[in-house]
Amino acid sequence: MVHLRSILAALAATAPLASAAGLHQAAVAKGLKYFGSATDNGELSDAPYLAQLGNTNDFGQITPGNSMKWDATEPSQNSFSFTRGDVISNLAKTNGQLLRCHTLVWHSQLPSWVSSGTWTNATLIAAMKNHITNVVTHYKGQCYAWDVVNEALNEDGTYRTNIFYQTIGEAYLPIAFAAAAAADPSAKLYYNDYNIEYAGNKANGAQRIVKLVKSYGAKIDGVGSQAHLIVGSVSSTSNLAAVLQSFTALGVEVAFTELDIRMTLPSTAALLAQQSTDYKNVAAACVAVSGCVGVTIWDWTDKYSWVPNTFSGQGAALPWDENLVKKPAYDGLIAGLGGSTSTSTTTSTTLRTTTTTTTSATSAPTGTVQKWGQCGGNGWTGGTVCVSGSTCTKQNDWYSQCL
Ligand code: XIL
Repeated sequence: MVHLRSILAALAATAPLASAAGLHQAAVAKGLKYFGSATDNGELSDAPYLAQLGNTNDFGQITPGNSMKWDATEPSQNSFSFTRGDVISNLAKTNGQLLRCHTLVWHSQLPSWVSSGTWTNATLIAAMKNHITNVVTHYKGQCYAWDVVNEALNEDGTYRTNIFYQTIGEAYLPIAFAAAAAADPSAKLYYNDYNIEYAGNKANGAQRIVKLVKSYGAKIDGVGSQAHLIVGSVSSTSNLAAVLQSFTALGVEVAFTELDIRMTLPSTAALLAQQSTDYKNVAAACVAVSGCVGVTIWDWTDKYSWVPNTFSGQGAALPWDENLVKKPAYDGLIAGLGGSTSTSTTTSTTLRTTTTTTTSATSAPTGTVQKWGQCGGNGWTGGTVCVSGSTCTKQNDWYSQCL
């Protein structure tokens, strides 16, 4: 069966977009639903900032960085405030942008009446359901997706000790998803976390959560990989794509939901060039995976990045600098999204056009692939010969591995 996404991608492959097309346009041409940005209420009085945020060539989606969180929406029990969140949802409407709604159940930015309250299993379930039901109902029909539970995992993949886990146990996750689904059946419901961009215990934990929610009969539609990354430490497109595929294999979609790639300041030309490559690899990974619906950067200019306030001595994490001027990272994203007329469109393009292309890798296979490395798959342009003692083994159309 030929999918529209495949046709669009094939068209894009034959007629690459000019780099001026914009991030969202390039993403959509490759079959993604959106490229987007987080934003926040305080920034909207900055007219040049607001104008670029509304440039739908670049941004087809926005996320409120803070104003839909629990402390903003239910600062005291059963007293709801949607004023600030509504500013962002209305902006999305005005601009014709998708809205990702963020976030319902999280240990952070949680008012103390919740985190330090005296709860029983039953009373906390009731309070959590009341929060979810009210907030999701208020935004019903407006959210492409909700981050239902945020950051429930420790780095080793075990559950983070928060008031919900302590009081309710792991059942708080499926209960939260079921409440969100009941309040807005059409919103895509996501589990969202950081450091799940790489294979390992935490990514495995996120997979466990998907299965857990499903095992309770509740709906979960997606995994959000926050992607708060570090310049020079970002893995290859194929490694990033393989982890995304470990989620889509469970029957959920994926997205990079909070992408930024920070560096130790001051920024240098070399760091900015590496950052561009890193952004390219992340964008290309989403393009490479059929179930990856979009990429959201965690605001678009260094002027309003959360990074310097959170990671001491680090910053310059976004594709536009503090003067709202594009950095090399912008071109990296365009290249990763296959929107550049320059090289490097081949890999990201052909990986997604699984049903229509007769892919012939354009570049010659290079080097010998180590055991466990990728040695083939649609669009793969790297080496295809495995080191002696291992055999190139097809895992799926997109991925063969030396085993
Ligand atoms: C951050 C906001 O950007 C900051 O303004 C705020 O002070 C703290 O939270 N993971 C998330 C986001 O899911 O909600 C966080 O946003 C960044 C880390």
